[in-house]
Parts: sequence; C-alpha cells; structure tokens
Amino acid sequence: MFLAVGCSSGEEGPGEAAGGVPVVEKGKLTVCTHLPYPPFQFEQGGKVVGFDVALIDLVAKDLGVEQKVLDTPFENFKTGAFLNSGKCDLAAAGMTITDERKKNVDFSVPYFDATQALLATKKSGVKSLADVKSTNKKLGAQAGTTGESYATSQGFDPVAFESSDAVLNGLRTGQVDAVIIDYPVVQGWLKDKANAAEFALGENIETGEQYGFSVKKGNDKLRAAIDKAIEDAKADGTYDKLYEQWIGPLPQGRS
Ligand code: ARG
Repeated sequence: MFLAVGCSSGEEGPGEAAGGVPVVEKGKLTVCTHLPYPPFQFEQGGKVVGFDVALIDLVAKDLGVEQKVLDTPFENFKTGAFLNSGKCDLAAAGMTITDERKKNVDFSVPYFDATQALLATKKSGVKSLADVKSTNKKLGAQAGTTGESYATSQGFDPVAFESSDAVLNGLRTGQVDAVIIDYPVVQGWLKDKANAAEFALGENIETGEQYGFSVKKGNDKLRAAIDKAIEDAKADGTYDKLYEQWIGPLPQGRS
C-alpha cells in the first residue's frame, strides 16, 4: 500500500511516456487549447476534434499515451503559464509562431501556413481594411491573437472578443461591421449557408504566419517527439489526408 500525495483526485500524477518523454499525467498527453477554433479544435458530438487534435493524436500514439484536451484561456499561450505550472504538456491552438511568444515557450516545427482574412457583413459594403477606415466602420478581433496585433499595427483599435465564437457573434449582432481573423476559420464559417448569406470575405491578408505547437521552455524531448510525428506524417501522406479532411483542398504548388 502507498499513499499518493499531492495528486488531485482522479489524476495519477506525472509519468514517463515512450522514449523517456516526461508527461504531467501518467498515461496521458495533456494538451491545453482554447475552444472553439474550427477547423483546428472544436467540439463535435461531445468530443474535441479537428486538425490540431488529429496531429497531436499521432504524437500521443508514438508515445504510447492518450491525448487529453483541456480548454484554457488564450492568454496562457503567450505566457506559457499552464506549461510552466505542469497543467499541460503542450499547447495546440492554431497558434502562430511569433518572436514574442518564443520568449516564453518553445515551438515545434511549423505545421500549417496561415493568412489573415477580413470578414464583413454584406450590408456594410466593406471589402478591405482600407474600406473599414474610410467609411469609419467598427472592426473586431479575438483578444491576444495575431489578427488583433495586425489590426493594431495598421492603426486600428479593434473591439476585442474572448473567443472565435464571440467574434462571429459580434458580427452577427452588429457590434462590429467587420472582423480580422485567421483565414481557415473564415473558410470554415462560410461553409455554413446562413453565414454565407450574411457575411462575405473581404480581403485575404498575407501575413506569412505559421502555426506551431508549444511546449515548456527546455522540454526538448517532447518537442522532438512532436517534430518527428509532424515530419513522419508529411512524409507518409497522413498530413495531406488530415489536411483535406479538416481544412480543405491542399494549397496549389505546395512543396
Ligand atoms: N493564429 C492566431 C494566433 O496565434 C489565432 C489563434 C487562436 N486560437 C484559438 N484556439 N482560439 O494568435
């Protein structure tokens, strides 16, 4: 008999996965995310699914553990707080690799190229960020994201919404006339007929962003395992299959 000290109920405490990779909960790969961010992570039939989830499942499989997803505030992805405190092993949140974030967390190899998009209500007539400015319309963005910082860098003071859902709702309820958010999210929203009737893609803004998964600074073993799973998936066609399943047709001329 032994007493497990310091573990909250139901958790087994830290452990080690295949290859000596440390994990915060035995038998699990605990992943912090911020829901919803379709098509990267969102709830469907009571389960969290999406492109990021599918990629991290490959890592978990290699490590012989099971992925467990926790919904956490987006703010933590910049500070790395939940990685540092041992709440999660990694963060997967359609997150862009930035120099600012790199100060606090380590990133995997890039796994997705993204651009920003301007989505506007049809009745606003807005087609570009320049239109937003010249017609004095209201712009929205998700708090703490690269879309928000891009808007700020262009001289806007966007209304900040807590989640992508709240961004869409802000547009729907007329709190804002246009929003700036990652293009794949807009692409997903516009697949819905009701959204497509009300909103239209204005411009696509090439910001050259790349997504990465983040780990606690210095967690090189886990970072290497993530990189390997991404590289293996790219080499054996799994990546392309998952891309088509969750995102859409593969970009033309992709190397
Ligand atoms: N790619 C953008 C960024 O890194 C948005 C990410 C938002 N992710 C989310 N799960 N809500 O800032």
